[in-house]
Amino acid sequence: MPDLTPGPSTVEVVSQDVRHDAGHDAGHGADHRFPEAAEIRELLDQLRRLVLTYKFGIDEVMTKISILRDEFRHMQNYNPVEHVGSRLKSLESIVAKCRRKGIPLTPDGVREKMFDVAGVRVTCSFVSDIYKVRDMLTNQADLTVLEERDYIAHPKPNGYKSLHLIVQVPVYLSDRVEHVIVEIQLRTIAMDFWASLEHKIYYKYARDVPRHLTDSLKLAADVAASLDSSMERIHDEVTAIAGAEEPVEQRDALLTPEEMLRNFWSAAEVEGDAPRGSRQD
Ligand code: GTP
Ligand code: MG
Repeated sequence: MPDLTPGPSTVEVVSQDVRHDAGHDAGHGADHRFPEAAEIRELLDQLRRLVLTYKFGIDEVMTKISILRDEFRHMQNYNPVEHVGSRLKSLESIVAKCRRKGIPLTPDGVREKMFDVAGVRVTCSFVSDIYKVRDMLTNQADLTVLEERDYIAHPKPNGYKSLHLIVQVPVYLSDRVEHVIVEIQLRTIAMDFWASLEHKIYYKYARDVPRHLTDSLKLAADVAASLDSSMERIHDEVTAIAGAEEPVEQRDALLTPEEMLRNFWSAAEVEGDAPRGSRQD
């Protein structure tokens, strides 16, 4: 299969992680002749199959988060995860990114150099929850962390904050195991609110945002951070007072489990007295 990436060869340089040994130089020695229709069809087929493995990678991570969320809620009477979303990069965006970054447009090129085909975004209420969820996830034996970028401890100059993890999860296919890379972004609700507004503005102004707006966004990011810490302080105070509350499931139920079982047995006693032949379904 020829490398179908046209244009100059550039290598994405990424420091402080394992990406540097992710393979050969992008575009190096590329065969730039225009491919045959059959080759294009074959490549498309291969890329579609590859993208499917990323969808399975998302499914694996979503299941992990959903289990943590449910178990945490049940055991601790607390939910550290407000919302979880995912997105699979479209074939169109994959091709565009290969072109932009000089990544060979081949399954291996994408596998080795593109780390955001599969994306999962976890929104938490509080900053401490982000690190809690991070720890719970990364302590799982089948999940390998390839990279962590902490834009909460080190925000981007524009004010962007989030914790980014690039992880690898095994996906068991019919004939092999694929180790799929998934980008996980963890943020608070306030960080997410800020990022979606900034994203809209960035694209509205075709990446050339006027100075007064970048200044306002930076200020808004500081206000969002201050809201996050105030909310967390209040939450901690209330939690300390509320102390050992009953688990949500039990508190919300109309009957305690003991009452429920007592009712069950007394109903069974009454039904035991019922005339024979009465239907019990
Ligand atoms: P690419 O830009 O996709 O090549 O990724 P990267 O290797 O530069 O990673 P980076 O951590 O900069 O960004 C990855 C993702 O985080 C982006 O695709 C966005 O979803 C999000 N992100 C990063 N920076 C910003 C930002 O300044 N604003 C917003 N709204 N989102 C951002
Ligand atoms: Mg970037």
